[in-house]
Amino acid sequence: MLPSAPALKITPARSFRGRFRLPGDKSISHRAALFGGMARGRTTVENYSQAADCASTLACLRALGVAVARDGARVSIESGGLAAWHAPAAVLDCENSGSTIRMLAGALAGRPFRSVLTGDESLRRRPVERVAAPLRLMGATLASTDGKPPLTIDGGRLHAIEYALPVASAQVKTAVLLAGLQAEGETGVTEPFPSRDHTERMLPSFGVSLVRDGRRASVRGGQQMRGTHVAVPGDASSAAFLVVAALVLPDSEVRLEHVLLSPTRTAFVAALRQMGGDVAVTLESETPEPVGTIVARSSALRGTSVDPAVVPALIDEVPALAVAAAFAEGTFTVTDAKELRVKESDRIAALAEGLGAMGASVRELPDGLVVEGRGRLAGGAVRSHGDHRIAMALAVAGLAAAGPTEVEGADCVAVSFPSFFDVLAEATGEATGR
Ligand code: S3P
Repeated sequence: MLPSAPALKITPARSFRGRFRLPGDKSISHRAALFGGMARGRTTVENYSQAADCASTLACLRALGVAVARDGARVSIESGGLAAWHAPAAVLDCENSGSTIRMLAGALAGRPFRSVLTGDESLRRRPVERVAAPLRLMGATLASTDGKPPLTIDGGRLHAIEYALPVASAQVKTAVLLAGLQAEGETGVTEPFPSRDHTERMLPSFGVSLVRDGRRASVRGGQQMRGTHVAVPGDASSAAFLVVAALVLPDSEVRLEHVLLSPTRTAFVAALRQMGGDVAVTLESETPEPVGTIVARSSALRGTSVDPAVVPALIDEVPALAVAAAFAEGTFTVTDAKELRVKESDRIAALAEGLGAMGASVRELPDGLVVEGRGRLAGGAVRSHGDHRIAMALAVAGLAAAGPTEVEGADCVAVSFPSFFDVLAEATGEATGR
């Protein structure tokens, strides 16, 4: 994906300290932009994510006729609404972003034109049938390439469906609801376990009436969305890497302010506490999303078994948790996390390889990982597999390892957290070797 740069050298750090405000949450930023593009009028977004993924969403919206102006973290979107979208002149390139391709597919399913969506090498290996299948049931015509992108969508008149998600997925849930807004009748989606609920929380501020009942969310078709203002809290998934760094390094304390504290995103905090981690959370406001401060301090960690029911609420944090597990004493197990095999990389294999090369004992399961923690890592030469979260996990592991670590392909952190290495340098008081 990104041009290859020399491997990044990480030298062991003495501590990890600081107070940070993180760039805007990636999941919320994608939705603010996409819903803004679907709405009539102006939408302004404050603290829009710096992630390359969220820039991919903006680029796709522009190609569909939406006016997007950006000044750093401020984004302004002016749209005539979905009815004003036009057929894109070229293939829509979602680059590395699974959220862009899957959620946008839901909006495009009801548009009376053809669009072709693709992405980089990593995205072209990821499944899209999970989103194509319900959209076909609603009446759209979609063709994937052996179940993967490029994805061709011939949108049109849609009818409502009642859909039970086979696997908990916030992206697929969102796609079905966005198609439902364009369908005749009431569309309902039920998920097997709770996944992130940013769509359900944000759509009402765009004027949508959405009903939630347990694990079911529903919308009536034909509702006109109106532009609004969205203030994006700090990214919860980025926070997880810094929290783990503070836990596993000695003499450390990190304070993360104005961070998203949605229960659908912060199950990693409970898992780390179960491991003996000193992580304090202060809730400062609750609507439209819970927001507050996280403080984490050096801790002696022990292994744990992650409850399968919370896996969707910490799926993106498993790489960070695996690092905590390697520095813990005892056995850490996560199962029912097969989804990790189809993320930006096969994260089960990439973690086993990377942490294994640094001296950890990691066993792959078909649907998870077992880490036998020994309280330390040696360091070593590791690969990101072009996956931002693998790169960040291994870099944090490198900071706390006994010897030096080289992370090949670390530049991909820009996919979700471009300032990651600057934050590490500041928190360790040292250069990270770039
Ligand atoms: C996301 C949902 C999750 C997550 C991804 C972002 C979202 O994916 O892993 O990083 O913003 O809705 P799935 O929908 O595939 O579970």
